[in-house]
Amino acid sequence: MPQISEKGKLMPASPIRKLVPYAEAAKKRDVKVYHLNIGQPDIPTPQVALDAVKNYSAKVIEYSHSAGNESYRRGLAEYYQGIGIDVTYENILVTTGGSEAITIALIACLNPGDEIIIPEPFYTNYNSFALLAGVKIRPITTSINTDFALPLIEEFEKLITPKTKGIVICNPNNPTGYLYSPEELESLRQIVLKHDLYLFSDEVYREFCYDGMQHISAMHLKGIENNVILFDSTSKRYSMCGIRIGALVTRNCEVLNSVLRFCQARLCAPSYGQIAAEAALKTPHEYFTNVYNEYIGRRNYMVEALNKIPGVYCPKPKGAFYTVVKLPVEDADHFAQWLLEEFEYEKQTVMVAPASGFYSTHGLGKNEVRVAYVLNIDDLHNAIKCLEEALKVYPGRVK
Ligand SMILES: Cc1ncc(COP(=O)(O)O)c(C=O)c1O
Repeated sequence: MPQISEKGKLMPASPIRKLVPYAEAAKKRDVKVYHLNIGQPDIPTPQVALDAVKNYSAKVIEYSHSAGNESYRRGLAEYYQGIGIDVTYENILVTTGGSEAITIALIACLNPGDEIIIPEPFYTNYNSFALLAGVKIRPITTSINTDFALPLIEEFEKLITPKTKGIVICNPNNPTGYLYSPEELESLRQIVLKHDLYLFSDEVYREFCYDGMQHISAMHLKGIENNVILFDSTSKRYSMCGIRIGALVTRNCEVLNSVLRFCQARLCAPSYGQIAAEAALKTPHEYFTNVYNEYIGRRNYMVEALNKIPGVYCPKPKGAFYTVVKLPVEDADHFAQWLLEEFEYEKQTVMVAPASGFYSTHGLGKNEVRVAYVLNIDDLHNAIKCLEEALKVYPGRVK
């Protein structure tokens, strides 16, 4: 039998999805599963986007331009201008989700064997994207004990080798909800400038910043215009993860030209998706206000409820809609599977994502899980109740 490739063997299973078969089995036993494992919000997609798809009357669903529909790119440029990011439509390439923007950028900008520094815990699929590009991740560890604050600039410099070509940040961060301060971004700017690195900035949660904190984009940083590559997505902003539209934005023309050639090879981003995404640009302001208030309520409820459970620690996230939670267990992978396979409370259980898959340093995050507060408060209440009851009876509970 022919063998699969080395990359085929090394590709990790997503910690967000690998327990799905156990959740499906639980549902077959008529157990209700609360999904705190995945960033799939229950917030309705803006009506303007739904209507645009419904009313789209083309007789042929054609390929679109490889760079994306010009009208959408122009609309996006206006959106960026509105948040102080000075770009034109020519700086924007529309991609099949933010995921494709990240994958292509890594392949277009880096050679196999090159290294990128990423604060961990990080969005788990960066491991997969890096594997595709043959790039090595050098993690810089942040800790739940300091609420995931970024280490000092000197710690970054210690990791820089002749192979280091870039830094990846996710701001606000998935999975920690960490929001970078102006001082931290200034430190990063200085390192990027000094070592002439790429700064890949994943800002797909830009709209989700709380407690009056302002989001600062890497595209706002001066003097590193050719170093910054921005990743964006409509998935979370408009709660339309399935529409599969993202974007890569940069002022670096060489990178744009190269990424466009990759885009040509994959022909185009989804045509229907772009119809929805362009219409979504006209989403009324009150939609975002309502969504924002909803998430604040969920976050406050969840953080308070989790911290009341003995042995549990949950930092207060400043952005996005996730948090990493420390549990009184030794092996959160085992606990998460046990929750689905062996536990139920009043015919309900909860699915969480073990956090070890969000670290690249082996052994970290073993007693942590990521939870997404993407459910309404009643469901969150039930989910957290399940977690509390589960921790009372889990055989692997640390005393
Ligand atoms: C930090 C981060 N970047 C990128 C993505 C990918 O988003 P998309 O649905 O646009 O591919 C996600 C999805 O959850 C994410 O959390």
